[in-house]
Amino acid sequence: MDPNDPYFFMNYGYCALDENNYPIFSHHFPLVYNKWKYQANLYFYILSLIDNPKGNILDIGCGQGGGVSIFNSYFNFNKIVGLDLNPPKNSSLYSNVEFISSNFLNNNLPSYSFDIITAIQTFEEFTSTSKTFTLFFKEISRLLKPQGSIIFTCFQLLNTDNNDLTSEIKSQNLYIDKEIDITKNVIYSVHIDSLRYKNNNEEMYNITRKIKEKLLYCSYKIYLLKSYGI
Ligand SMILES: C[S@@+](CC[C@H](N)C(=O)[O-])C[C@H]1O[C@@H](n2cnc3c(N)ncnc32)[C@H](O)[C@@H]1O
Repeated sequence: MDPNDPYFFMNYGYCALDENNYPIFSHHFPLVYNKWKYQANLYFYILSLIDNPKGNILDIGCGQGGGVSIFNSYFNFNKIVGLDLNPPKNSSLYSNVEFISSNFLNNNLPSYSFDIITAIQTFEEFTSTSKTFTLFFKEISRLLKPQGSIIFTCFQLLNTDNNDLTSEIKSQNLYIDKEIDITKNVIYSVHIDSLRYKNNNEEMYNITRKIKEKLLYCSYKIYLLKSYGI
């Protein structure tokens, strides 16, 4: 886990809109995280939605471990697992942290073993067919302990209904505890990053501009689901 890795985080970030509280959680960050302030904020934000986060946590699509490093440095989990098709190469220095190289839809993790599962900007990878969409929630339901929580981010085109999502959630013995629209917070985060890149990184400046355009047609939501259990 190396904060200097250019892909340490790969999400659009979260920026609080209230200036008195701006940006949230920034007091947590040592200097090395400064570049990733809003991306790391998104991980802090999602965990702030759970009372007393503890136990075992799985980050699906952990990328190069940015989220896992936040879980490890600022929370008190017994076990932290980061799973990705392409996890960090150098294995972890921490005894309670494990990286697994696997397709989430075909993983070997034991059933009912996680209190919390997170999937940040990863859910879209599973929505391309109805089969992978169903399998995603089936696996979540298998891996969560009773009353466990899954938090995932989700892009939705404006004016689309989410009937498929809600019926799939229900059929896998899960229920929606919170559904939060953070589109403005994400646009604000991308906007600030875009200003930061304007004069020194043309490629990233163009990427962030395109993301902002895309977000005009989408909502960016966070879902917190709970498992009814066995
Ligand atoms: C946009 S990145 C998000 C990374 C990280 N969650 C973050 O917020 O910085 C999406 C990640 O999902 C991973 N991914 C895509 N399909 C996957 C699959 N079927 N199983 C596991 N990981 C997958 C990709 O390799 C990539 O690292």
